[in-house]
Amino acid sequence: MSAILEARGLGRTLPGERPVVLVHDIDLTIEPGCFTAIVGPSGCGKSSLLYLLGLLDRPTAGELLFEGHEMSGLSGDERAQVRLEHLGFVFQFHFLLPEFSALENVMLPMRRLGRLDIDEAEARARALLAEMALDGKEGKTPDKLSGGERQRVAIARALANDPALILGDEPTGNLDSHNSARVVESLLSLAHDQGRAVACVTHDLAIAEQADVRIEMLDGRIEKIVDRRVGA
Ligand SMILES: Nc1ncnc2c1ncn2[C@@H]1O[C@H](COP(=O)(O)OP(=O)(O)OP(=O)(O)O)[C@@H](O)[C@H]1O
Ligand SMILES: [Mg+2]
Repeated sequence: MSAILEARGLGRTLPGERPVVLVHDIDLTIEPGCFTAIVGPSGCGKSSLLYLLGLLDRPTAGELLFEGHEMSGLSGDERAQVRLEHLGFVFQFHFLLPEFSALENVMLPMRRLGRLDIDEAEARARALLAEMALDGKEGKTPDKLSGGERQRVAIARALANDPALILGDEPTGNLDSHNSARVVESLLSLAHDQGRAVACVTHDLAIAEQADVRIEMLDGRIEKIVDRRVGA
């Protein structure tokens, strides 16, 4: 299967008198229909890698190909457009806008992209919230939702523009085990039932154990990749 994202010798070093190597020599592919977990001890570079994969930070070495296109030559605006059109993010803290309802939060990326008119965007946002079992919560602001509900709104928002790739950084880091299990179930379904590529940084064993591919990092490098897919 062709990769959605491919990193070749990808690295990021912070410049300075004493340069800091965040990640080094990363080779990986992220494929559709596959749930990838990125694991490793605190400080090993997981978030740094995710920011590179999500075009939120720029590599200082190597190549990053998104759907076969090299990303390094793109301007900041072009990278933002790729993020808006093709990527969805779910972080440990939901980053929902507090003054907007769940529905409005999910509609926002659609309005920004500008492909749907307001009625179409609303219908799509309602459908996405229903998919996340949030029917009836559309009008609530984030402070009126539980932690698990907020995180599911954040997933619905990540799906707003129908991204091929969903990236998560500790998406269950803030949740109790019950809510965490529901969020994991939703994320797995995005890969297995909807054919999206999902890659999550996690300390959560339940996620790491259910992942199709587990990328184990240590000291800014990939130490091991365990591929549990049939035929892998
Ligand atoms: N802006 C920065 N300046 C200096 N060092 C940094 C900076 N950002 C990250 N680091 C260092 O780079 C290393 C990797 O950080 P990163 O946040 O990627 O780790 P992580 O694996 O996500 O850790 P955690 O599991 O705790 O979230 C750490 O040692 C961190 O201290
Ligand atoms: Mg981190």
